[in-house]
Amino acid sequence: MTDLTARFRELWDEIAPVGRDAGSGGYLRYALTDPELRLREWFRGQARTRDMAVTEDGNGNLFAWWGDPDAGDAVLTGSHFDSVPHGGAYDGPLGIVSALLAVDELRAAGVTPVRPVVVAAFVEEEGARFGVPCLGSRLLTGEIAVDRAAGLRDAAGVSFAEALGDRPAGADAGLLGRFAAFVELHVEQGRALVDQAAPVAVASAIWPHGRWRFDFHGEGNHAGTTRMADRRDPMLTYAFTVLAANKEARLRDAHATVARVAVEPNATNAIPAKVTGWLDARAAEATTLDGLVEAVRAKAAERAKRDGTGLTCTQESATPLVAFDGGLADRLAKLLDAPVLPTGAGHDAGVLAAHLPTAMLFVRNPTGVSHSPAESATDADCAAGVTALARVLEELACR
Ligand code: GLV
Ligand code: MN
Ligand code: MN
Ligand code: MN
Repeated sequence: MTDLTARFRELWDEIAPVGRDAGSGGYLRYALTDPELRLREWFRGQARTRDMAVTEDGNGNLFAWWGDPDAGDAVLTGSHFDSVPHGGAYDGPLGIVSALLAVDELRAAGVTPVRPVVVAAFVEEEGARFGVPCLGSRLLTGEIAVDRAAGLRDAAGVSFAEALGDRPAGADAGLLGRFAAFVELHVEQGRALVDQAAPVAVASAIWPHGRWRFDFHGEGNHAGTTRMADRRDPMLTYAFTVLAANKEARLRDAHATVARVAVEPNATNAIPAKVTGWLDARAAEATTLDGLVEAVRAKAAERAKRDGTGLTCTQESATPLVAFDGGLADRLAKLLDAPVLPTGAGHDAGVLAAHLPTAMLFVRNPTGVSHSPAESATDADCAAGVTALARVLEELACR
């Protein structure tokens, strides 16, 4: 084991128990809930031991500065602590831990930044608590209105503003203007690197994607006494829509998933009055994505007529195609001798890419599984990720 691999493991073990569900082995680290708040405190402590000043942007995002926080042309790195329900260990925290270790590597090598290196912990990247992914970076860049973000509510009815303890501050052009580039390191969320036998890759693009909420309304009634012909059962329309989404996605080589559902009243012996299903849809091209969602919507509406149910469809979030800065990606791929890959997963880097030169590094995931407790990365590959990120930060901030 190399010294860096051992240091990675040591730091990783500090956060590994936080928010871990003993049953599933996955993580319940929802934004601004106790486990995530503990990780944010841990982050502040790590910054303190490294003499890095921590600033907040009023939106829930934290920034630890190596170098003068008032200096410009800073190089931003980092990721997020929050997880999906029963998510993996690496999605998010790997980018933050790797950034702290990359700073250590550069310091140990006697390298000093000419421009500040800033490690970010963005809030609510997964959208698992308040429904909109990349909420922190969308607020910072002004891509979501403050009123809408403030009023988003979690399943218990707590608003984002209440969880934050204040109304979010919203866009901060002054802060954004101090960053010359953003580089987010992330665990790979597919098998692309296993197939290429490389520990680290550079991202080329993020597929356009979004979330749509389908509310199916029917008539709640008794399961034992209501004749089949008399029912207006929204579960049927919902079930048909899930199958239609799967079929339409396959036809287009796109991705459609319905993985969250709410049923009212959710009783075994009552025909539901209402079923809500959330569609996550993604495709390589925006026109393909639009066509997919329109087809699902049309088929659901047609089926609702047949079932005597009502349907409302609301788009809850949208992320357009992100083409990362080609010049920067090529430069980093050459520096690291790394392959370049697109991804179907969303990231804060995708939001920031519209505002500053942005790149991503992916660390190999031997299972190819993510958003699941089975997500994995070896310590040796994580150390390779730290080395790669340190080289990138040296290239961008220290010359
Ligand atoms: C976030 O991880 C997403 O792509 O859903
Ligand atoms: Mn994720
Ligand atoms: Mn992530
Ligand atoms: Mn993500």
